[in-house]
Amino acid sequence: EGSVYAAGVIAKIIREKAEKGEKAVIGMATGSTPKSLYDELVRMHREEGLSFKNVITFNLDEYYPMEADSIHSYHYFMRKILFDKIDIDPKNYHIPDGMVPKDQIKKYAAEYEKMIEDAGGLDLQILGIGQNGHIGFNEPGSPVYSKTRLITLDNNTRIANSADFSTLSDVPRMAITMGINSIMNAREILLMAWGEAKSNAIKKSVEGKPTEELPATLLQHHYN
Ligand code: PGA
Repeated sequence: EGSVYAAGVIAKIIREKAEKGEKAVIGMATGSTPKSLYDELVRMHREEGLSFKNVITFNLDEYYPMEADSIHSYHYFMRKILFDKIDIDPKNYHIPDGMVPKDQIKKYAAEYEKMIEDAGGLDLQILGIGQNGHIGFNEPGSPVYSKTRLITLDNNTRIANSADFSTLSDVPRMAITMGINSIMNAREILLMAWGEAKSNAIKKSVEGKPTEELPATLLQHHYN
């Protein structure tokens, strides 16, 4: 039900923009949470003619280092679950490049921010949440003014994500993630969390004092 609701929010933005001849700019998330959302968007594309021809997307994050073709990459995840099943123009979706040489990451991250800005900014950012309160891969301690950057993953994030890998040591130790400020700049934010495992993080995010120690609490400062 939550995914159907979220898909409806996205579809409304896409259709309203299309009517005006404008692009819809959507921030995408990966992980187990949005899978049912993407299934619903694919269904709406196939059964209701929802077109993604006017849609530009920016994904929150990618492991580092990570080849785009690896089955563990978020590139692979997004293509398999969504992009290859809809009519989005491949040049209109963007996912951080997990293979940028380390000495070029700062420049690359600034370019990623610039691309979002040049597209007109995010109309909507979709988020999941980690049990430690991370959004994107902004782990606890991520500054409120942070932009796209390289980050070291928390050990509990690596453990949570290890189900997708053969062993824990195969889970990358780093990632490139949009920052808290990049997320806060979206005109609307929709955070999804399913199941009891997320309830504690949600309780703290909604009722706790905003703190960088639990990044999702910072969303309390967002106006939409
Ligand atoms: P999940 O991850 O959707 O796989 O639970 C969410 C997150 O860690 O942000």
